[in-house]
Amino acid sequence: MRDPILNIAVKAARAAGNVIIRALDRPDTIQVSQKKPNDYVTDIDRQAEQEIIAIIRKAHPQHGIIGEESGETIGKEYTWIIDPIDGTRNFIHGFPQFAVSIGIRYRGKIEHGVIYDPLRQELFTASRGKGARLNDKRIRVSTRTQLEDCLFATGFTSRHSAPHLTAYLDMMKTMIPLCGDIRRPGAATLDLAYVACGRLDGFWEKGLKIWDIAAGILLIKEAGGLVFDMDGGDNYLESGDIITGNPKIVKLLLKKIKPHFSSVL
Ligand code: IPD
Ligand code: CA
Repeated sequence: MRDPILNIAVKAARAAGNVIIRALDRPDTIQVSQKKPNDYVTDIDRQAEQEIIAIIRKAHPQHGIIGEESGETIGKEYTWIIDPIDGTRNFIHGFPQFAVSIGIRYRGKIEHGVIYDPLRQELFTASRGKGARLNDKRIRVSTRTQLEDCLFATGFTSRHSAPHLTAYLDMMKTMIPLCGDIRRPGAATLDLAYVACGRLDGFWEKGLKIWDIAAGILLIKEAGGLVFDMDGGDNYLESGDIITGNPKIVKLLLKKIKPHFSSVL
């Protein structure tokens, strides 16, 4: 039985998914605008976020909301953390890898999370202490223990500084020969959901936002995985820097990746 508040999140994520799917029928009408250099938003991101907020507000008018597109509204005890389309660049290009993500924070802790892939109709859900699920079936992280057997994902952006980019490329020089393979799918929320269900053995990225990771982190923890920041600490929600994977592999990842970033912000 799903917690009632998680049911609201699922309803909101599915409603946003419908907005996204309807827009894909008429891709020529999607309006794209630039927020910052290499950071885009579409009218569909905004519509999907408004759809989510309307459903939350109806059920829980007092709760706080942090939305990627509409900013922060302070509320009482609960805060809903929303990414209406994670993978906006993919969405704009019709590259089929994007998702809706909703995390619910209560007194500083993420209690519930939903990630919904509207194209594949895959619904990832988790509630703290109650496990993680894909379309209502329990999921677990993978059990692989050797880097050379593993499939990983990562992310990067041209918004990063030059020293960061150099550190990133050096890190990839270390990682590529060691790993089975590495992907850059372009939607961090799905990268995290795929770690939770064992499709990926691990994932790392620097400089993510809270709406990219709030729901996914809970999914991974509830699926038996571990999450660290790039120093091996637990400051990932604040820093947006994340290394995650199954318990064995994440420690190996940390050992290899951490030295590359220790000198850059
Ligand atoms: C982006 C995606 C991407 C990640 C970026 C995020 P957006 O989110 O998750 O995979 O590499 O750092 O900003 O902008 O598409 O919602
Ligand atoms: Ca995002």
